[in-house]
Amino acid sequence: MSSLKIGICGLGTVGSGVVNIFNAHHGLIQQRCNNDLELLHVGARRDNSDCDTSDYRVSRDIFEVVRDPEVDVVVELIGGTTVARDLVTQAIEAGKHVVTANKALIAEFGNELIALAERAQVALRFEAAVAGGIPIIKVLRESLAANVVSGVAGIINGTGNFILTEMAHEGRSFEDVLAEAQALGYAEADPTFDIDGTDAAHKLVILASLAFGIPLDANAAVTEGIDTVTPEDLDFAKELGFSVKHLGIARRSGDALDLRVHPTLIPINRQIARVDGVLNAIMVEADSVGEIVLTGPGAGSLPTASSVCGDLMDLGRVLNHSLVDPTPTLGVPSDQLQTLPLIPRHEVAGVWYLRLVVEDRPGVMAEISGLLSARGISIEQLVQRPPAEGSSHVTVVILTDAVMCGHLDSAILDIETLPALSGSVVRLRVESFKEA
Ligand code: HSE
Repeated sequence: MSSLKIGICGLGTVGSGVVNIFNAHHGLIQQRCNNDLELLHVGARRDNSDCDTSDYRVSRDIFEVVRDPEVDVVVELIGGTTVARDLVTQAIEAGKHVVTANKALIAEFGNELIALAERAQVALRFEAAVAGGIPIIKVLRESLAANVVSGVAGIINGTGNFILTEMAHEGRSFEDVLAEAQALGYAEADPTFDIDGTDAAHKLVILASLAFGIPLDANAAVTEGIDTVTPEDLDFAKELGFSVKHLGIARRSGDALDLRVHPTLIPINRQIARVDGVLNAIMVEADSVGEIVLTGPGAGSLPTASSVCGDLMDLGRVLNHSLVDPTPTLGVPSDQLQTLPLIPRHEVAGVWYLRLVVEDRPGVMAEISGLLSARGISIEQLVQRPPAEGSSHVTVVILTDAVMCGHLDSAILDIETLPALSGSVVRLRVESFKEA
């Protein structure tokens, strides 16, 4: 039996999960990868009472793990992109394999790190970086390798889905649910990226890179967060037969790509509309397999650690037979990745939900529909709530027909000049997908 010694850097939510899995399943891990896969060294600034590290070498300086000559694989679980980038770079330069759960690091610095790993002939694996416990990286890189992928779409931030679900189903406040998501270890240490869509955008560009064979570009996706979704919109969506999900969408159209993350109304009878709580779901559409949907926990200690351990065991198996991991990190060697142009946001067509507060007087709706139709936009559905007692304004919700985003931008600018309008127009995208 060959052996692989593991050093973990970071003992937060995911790091403690990996230690707990090794403590509980060490024998099973060794048996299943026929490798004496051993957790040797843990680097963390402080202990974590959620796990027992008494069997391992422990260092307060995480770089001690990288410098440990006995460590073969460094597992980077500290998050962030500054120290983590140095750590991973040093590990690769020291000839060590790297496993990470760090989506920001891979999205922002993956190109340079993958090239470095290829030169050093070491593996760089990051199954846990996207969708927590769902093994989507391996599926795209290996299981679907014979397919031409036309689209990947899904719920890829657990915190965001947990917040939207609790707000919609339980009527809880955003702040209250966010605090619980933090306590449960779903949210990032600084949850800004969960809320403003950056975390999902990082994950989407990783998926797009694997799906379409393109280099990583952290800023490629049009990005909107869940912070624009109000309880009122969740109520209207429900009334109209939709649920609201924060989606990442990567679609290939000819030789161009549409990449975006944003809150989305989805008809409630679609499978993905009913994926709730911390669950994630990813749909892949590809020429040979057709459509597949993978669902599972998108965040949390053990689910994410499960993916880290899967990578480690995969490496253990591969390195039983070879000195080098032969699987290219992104499915093809990095010098074979090909950049594809992005479809500009204003050229992407779609259906929209609009919410407006307008004066309750004759002619106002005619003005609004006139401005929409002047831009070639048809109204598919319109709902008006009766004015609150004593109010001179009503809330109106409109579902448009499919429209080019740039035309909608122009129509909204026009509508926002109307004296009858109070505040600005709220807009959310609608995606219907296929019947479940
Ligand atoms: N904060 C992330 C999420 C963790 O909620 O999805 C998993 O990447």
